[in-house]
Amino acid sequence: MTLTPTRLMSALGCALALTLLPGLPAQAQTGPTQTATAKKAQVVILATGGTIAGAGASAANSATYQAAKVPVDKLLASVPELGNLAQVRGEQVFQIASESFTNEHLLQLAKRVSALAKQADVDGIVITHGTDTLEETAFFLNLTVRTTKPIVVVGSMRPGTALSADGALNLYNAVATAASPAAAGKGVLVTMNDEINTGRDVTKAANIRPDAFKSPWGPLGMVVEGQTYWFRAPAKRHTVNSEFDIDRISSLPQVDIAYGHGGVSPVAYQALAASGAKALIHAGTGNGSVSKDVVPALRELRAKGVQVIRSSRIDGGGFVIRNAEQPDDQYDWVVAHDLNPQKARLLAALALTQTQNPKTIQRFFLEY
Ligand code: DGL
Repeated sequence: MTLTPTRLMSALGCALALTLLPGLPAQAQTGPTQTATAKKAQVVILATGGTIAGAGASAANSATYQAAKVPVDKLLASVPELGNLAQVRGEQVFQIASESFTNEHLLQLAKRVSALAKQADVDGIVITHGTDTLEETAFFLNLTVRTTKPIVVVGSMRPGTALSADGALNLYNAVATAASPAAAGKGVLVTMNDEINTGRDVTKAANIRPDAFKSPWGPLGMVVEGQTYWFRAPAKRHTVNSEFDIDRISSLPQVDIAYGHGGVSPVAYQALAASGAKALIHAGTGNGSVSKDVVPALRELRAKGVQVIRSSRIDGGGFVIRNAEQPDDQYDWVVAHDLNPQKARLLAALALTQTQNPKTIQRFFLEY
């Protein structure tokens, strides 16, 4: 293209116009308040153990290591950049591998989070946690802690001693999110592998990869270089819009899970009920289907007052539909909707702190 005087003038005109334009609005970025005048957010980090506090014998040990070894003060000291994001302080609540979490651990942790959230000198809370049951803790907090302040649960798939360890950046991202005003009111969040997921949906979908955490309905957003970027919001009830309040719960009824599979027998369901289960979560095949060899036993247990809740062993493929292959209305059973068995167990336990009515329990499963 020949550069004629007209084209040259129009190019210069455009360049001049661009320099005179007011600054383009900043991209909808939201990160910790870091202006010189604004006070830094105050973020409390509650440490419970897990791989993020793990240590291996060598840098090559990315999967062979001991979880729950590094104390919270060393964890915070290993990521000095946290101080650029917020005023952080740590508490060691537990030092355990998360497969060993019990209902009592959940209650104690949730009560501590609830108490901190009420404090004026706390703007956000981060919980470092093993990844095995991280999704359960995040869901339980989402259901029971009545605050709009950001609560972020974070773990790591590799110990800090490993090559390409993911814990430090996951923790940095968690603090950035907990310090971000845009994270308020979105329920409990999980930051892993640069993504922000809702604690309700997210699940551990792989056992040794940094991108292990997935939400069937997709992440809420991302956190990159200390900035959060949001693309959707949670659709189900949580935190301040929940009917469950950890400050009014002192114990959880026993709820157990039994797995459906080819050749299944009713023995596991009967044994769990005999051990005191007040509700049974059926981790069913497909659409939460129940073997004809198990239906009579479940109907008998229902008649004795045990709640029966159909979930699916398929995680993230959709949701269990009421009255599809099983006549739930006739059997007085509940469907877990899209909740996986391990999350259904927690909602069922909370439901039973309020009601024995299957219709109310079903409403809880559709709304939370
Ligand atoms: N023992 C597992 C846990 O504490 C290690 C897995 C992890 O934390 O990533 O959940």
